[in-house]
Amino acid sequence: MAFLQVIDQRAERIQGNIVDFELKGRTLLVTGGASGIGLAVARLGGLQGMPVAVVDAQKEATEAAVHALRAEGITCAGQVLDVQDSQGWQRTLDVLEEELGPVRAMVGCAGISRPEPAESMSDEAWDSVMGVNLTGLFRSIRAVGGRMVARRGGSIVAIASTNALGGHAGRANYSATKHGVVGLTRALAIEWGRQGVRVNAVAPGVVDTPLLRRNVPADHIQHAMVDRVPLGRFSVAEEQAQVCLFLLSDAASYVSGATIPVDGGLTAGYFTRWNGADLGSNALLARGAYQAPEGAGQI
Ligand SMILES: NC(=O)c1ccc[n+]([C@@H]2O[C@H](COP(=O)([O-])OP(=O)(O)OC[C@H]3O[C@@H](n4cnc5c(N)ncnc54)[C@H](O)[C@@H]3O)[C@@H](O)[C@H]2O)c1
Repeated sequence: MAFLQVIDQRAERIQGNIVDFELKGRTLLVTGGASGIGLAVARLGGLQGMPVAVVDAQKEATEAAVHALRAEGITCAGQVLDVQDSQGWQRTLDVLEEELGPVRAMVGCAGISRPEPAESMSDEAWDSVMGVNLTGLFRSIRAVGGRMVARRGGSIVAIASTNALGGHAGRANYSATKHGVVGLTRALAIEWGRQGVRVNAVAPGVVDTPLLRRNVPADHIQHAMVDRVPLGRFSVAEEQAQVCLFLLSDAASYVSGATIPVDGGLTAGYFTRWNGADLGSNALLARGAYQAPEGAGQI
């Protein structure tokens, strides 16, 4: 009977037109929070009234982020940590929770990209990307999620990529880690569901961040990439952050183990565009390719 009562309570709230986007007062921890998507998550979460903990490997950028967030009136603390540092995590969480209260929401954004041809990829390029994007993410979630499990509640979002939904030449290391993020998300959603901890992933398409500008500096390549996006533009980091905040909120109370592409339609289909030309059905329709031969369909 108890589980039906829980459903009744939930239904009453929703039928009362209460959409639970309320995040105020829930402490949010963001890894990679000093730049790009992580900084946008920290800022938008903070503006919703979440106390924000920024964890990042870069000291100066972390200090600058905390300074900028506080200037906007956000309650915020920062800690410099390499997400791979298992022991450092416990110390870091002790300090942050002392200042901001128990972490109830986490977004794992720390990530790097080292594109190299697979046949000559250095061990260093493979190991470093594995280390940050997958091992580091796991160690972050193990530390933060472990506390959520003990307190029986929380919501975690891992940042994957459209490279988690398909491969990408020159990015064997990156694609492998991002596919791993989806597997990790699913496994943890199953393992921690009964403890009230939801785990989901967001798969961004092309987002205008410092990482993108470092990795895809050439204008003509950026144009070619935009050309393939059905919405016809790159994403801004805030568009990724908004979906993260939805997943952290009770509006997503029945969403767990999901990976949500936030990619402007990039992965919606396998026919795409190139140099402005629509290589999909519209182009073929326009050329009459789908016109049935005379007499076809009549028996
Ligand atoms: N920008 C895109 O187009 C795009 C697309 C898909 C997925 N992503 C993913 O989104 C996430 C954020 O990327 P971004 O574009 O905002 O990049 P970014 O470089 O702007 O920010 C990444 C942050 O992570 C931090 N970081 C890196 N290694 C770390 C470590 N070992 N420990 C702690 N912090 C570390 C960096 O210092 C930096 O502040 C990454 O996981 C990336 O793979 C980005």
